[in-house]
Amino acid sequence: MSSSRPVITTSSGCPVDDNQNSVTVSSTGPIAISDFALIDKLAHFDRERIPERVVHAKGAAAHGYFEVTNDITKYCKAKVFERVGKRTPVFLRFSTVGGERGSADTARDPRGFAVKFYTEEGNWDMVGNNTPVFFIRDPIKFPDFIHTQKRCPMTNIPNPDMFWDFLSLVPESIHQVTILFSDRGTPDGYRHMNGYSSHTFKFVNKDGEVSYVKMHFKTDQGIKNLTRQQAGTLAGGDPDYATRDLHDSIKNGQFPSWTMFVQVMPQREAATYKWNVFDITKVWPHGDYPLIPVGKLVLNRNPENYFQDTEQSAFSPAHLVPGIEASEDKMLQGRLFSYSDTHRHRLGANYDQIPVNSAWNCPRHDYNARDGPMCVNGNKGGSPNYEPNSVYGTPVQDKSFAMSSQAISGVVGRHPQVHPNSDFEQAGNLYRKVMTREDRDHLIDNIVSHLKNAKREIQERQVKVFARADAEYGQRVAQGLGLPSSVLYASAM
Ligand code: HEM
Ligand SMILES: *[C@@H]1O[C@H](CO)[C@@H](O)[C@H](O)[C@H]1NC(C)=O
Repeated sequence: MSSSRPVITTSSGCPVDDNQNSVTVSSTGPIAISDFALIDKLAHFDRERIPERVVHAKGAAAHGYFEVTNDITKYCKAKVFERVGKRTPVFLRFSTVGGERGSADTARDPRGFAVKFYTEEGNWDMVGNNTPVFFIRDPIKFPDFIHTQKRCPMTNIPNPDMFWDFLSLVPESIHQVTILFSDRGTPDGYRHMNGYSSHTFKFVNKDGEVSYVKMHFKTDQGIKNLTRQQAGTLAGGDPDYATRDLHDSIKNGQFPSWTMFVQVMPQREAATYKWNVFDITKVWPHGDYPLIPVGKLVLNRNPENYFQDTEQSAFSPAHLVPGIEASEDKMLQGRLFSYSDTHRHRLGANYDQIPVNSAWNCPRHDYNARDGPMCVNGNKGGSPNYEPNSVYGTPVQDKSFAMSSQAISGVVGRHPQVHPNSDFEQAGNLYRKVMTREDRDHLIDNIVSHLKNAKREIQERQVKVFARADAEYGQRVAQGLGLPSSVLYASAM
């Protein structure tokens, strides 16, 4: 063996004499438990899988940067937007939602669009999707919704009855269902789709003024979709299609980029706007709140190791920074809890010490990040583990970083979100005004090919939901399913 190659060691550093033969009693005898090299190897192997993400398990990611191109400091004091030309390092993970870690990239599904900005005042995670809306608007529905999109508990097969039973009973889903079953539900890789915050967030400027905002990241590569047939063929022939496309394009120096825009609504306008701004099933038409350009997001470096960076990355809508705050949106409020909770389960209490997750671009002066499993940051040495303390030079609070304040009064209870505007109008407008004839043809065909596998009673309930968005929409799906149009008008939902 060439002397320029180092000697294999065990995990504890002991040089290994033979990596091919276990220690046995003679050539046919049993293994000696003194063979630590063998036990070390098997025991590590036995633990090489961490839990996969409960949603968004299959994904691909890359490093890059965000550069400010337009001054939005009058809306937001966050350091990341401090001045035109400022660059902040980012890590962006794309994903499908419902499938497992090895599932096909081309499934009909929303795509995750999760960006970690390593800012000088902490990591800001923009954990969005490629759709501007979502299926439900209360976090208490999320586990049920996700169960219906995953596998049937009895057969371990996706079940069209579960899928459509839930959606037909939750008609607020119609807007997102219409997007999902258009060809946008099968984007052509991760580079050819947009990203959206979907939720309304708050921007706060240096004078403490609050605006409600929705963020948009528009692909500079242009939107490209797959047809249902193309997506199906790729799912069998090249299930890692989007992962490979992202990796290869960066490797070949074709760096994908997105232009960030923001819609800004002065806080006082929210109460009287025609749409509930805290309802994630609704968009703000651009005619009401135009897209204001902010900057460019560029991906220019593949992770050197998939597990190290991509699998261990942990995004959370609660990872916010001064100037960017959560709105009252109930779904968002639920998400503020769920993500870091799942990270502690999936990666452990010190998940934020893993390099891809650590706030390495700013000083980290917290008192809680010590002890616990896998503490590898020096555990803060001899500095005090309590506060207040009178030890010279230790970190102290600073009230200038307080979040915006807001007066709210009301009755504690389980309140449905009530709003005069219907759940069907925006979906109907999408169908009638935004989609071309061809888009509508594909939409109907995509729906029929899936909904035809559900029970008739569920089909009947769901076509009525389509018909409430647009009569023709409902009629065409009913026709495609071979249902008489009388079912559209039958009473009782
Ligand atoms: C109440 C509703 C929701 C709950 C409870 C929820 C919960 C979760 C959980 C537990 C994960 C796994 C995180 C991990 O293991 O690291 C996750 C991933 C994710 N969620 Fe949600 N989610 C909700 C709604 C949404 C919405 C509305 C969006 C987009 C606007 C979204 C975007 C994402 C993305 C992009 C990921 C993957 C992050 C990554 O790449 O690691 N989720 N969600
Ligand atoms: C992608 O699908 C959407 C929704 O059907 C459609 O509006 C858009 O034109 C499609 N774009 C391309 C390039 O296929």
